[in-house]
Amino acid sequence: MSDGWDDSAQAWIAALGDAGDFSRRNVLDAPMLDRLRVANAHDILDLGCGEGRFCRMAAALGARVVGIDPTAALIAHANTQGGAAYYEAKAEDLPFEDSSFDVVVSYLSLIDIPDVPAALREANRVLRPGGKLLIANLNSWTTASQSKGPPVRNSDGSQTLLMDRYLDIFPSWAEWNDIRIQNWHRPMSFYMQQLLQTGFTLAHFDEPKAVGDHAEFYNRAPYLYLMEWHNS
Ligand SMILES: C[S@@+](CC[C@H](N)C(=O)[O-])C[C@H]1O[C@@H](n2cnc3c(N)ncnc32)[C@H](O)[C@@H]1O
Repeated sequence: MSDGWDDSAQAWIAALGDAGDFSRRNVLDAPMLDRLRVANAHDILDLGCGEGRFCRMAAALGARVVGIDPTAALIAHANTQGGAAYYEAKAEDLPFEDSSFDVVVSYLSLIDIPDVPAALREANRVLRPGGKLLIANLNSWTTASQSKGPPVRNSDGSQTLLMDRYLDIFPSWAEWNDIRIQNWHRPMSFYMQQLLQTGFTLAHFDEPKAVGDHAEFYNRAPYLYLMEWHNS
């Protein structure tokens, strides 16, 4: 069954563009780029690169960037924008030689990748020894509540969220801005255990605060995290 990405590609391109959305522009872009600067990476692979926005930002740091994504229309658009080499491929089956990259990035794509263990094995394989896997992801409490509707804003500024089946793994559909896609809820323990079992070591973890408009509201109940894992 389709995960909705082909049908949602044009709406996604219109919604994201170079400006990005709140999660990217106000929360994740700056700390993700900081980690790439610290890594001083020369060869970066972006898993689930979408229409290539973050590839272009990473390339502006001076690195060689490669983006992969299985959604043909997103890769076609990325190719019109340049900045990186783009391939239509899945994270679970990467068309690259072993030890090809210093850094592998997954920018809000882990929840969209059906077979995470396979994707992590592939990321490990294409990383050079001492390589880094940089992940930005949605908190698992967010994905556990996705099918229950958006958080309710209470009069005191707090939020109420309906959540269910946190410890299960299940697909759910998300809809906004004419985008309708299926992604996956998995508990945090699943991601952590899979990363550890693949042989990665956690080197950095953050729940970045938002900056700019609406930061105060977001920071009361942040729903994004960032982590960096190193291979051996
Ligand atoms: C939420 S978007 C993120 C796109 C981009 N990283 C960004 O931040 O704008 C998730 C992306 O994951 C891609 N995706 C879905 N299944 C995938 C898979 N098996 N391997 C790699 N990417 C996949 C989708 O096509 C989509 O472009």
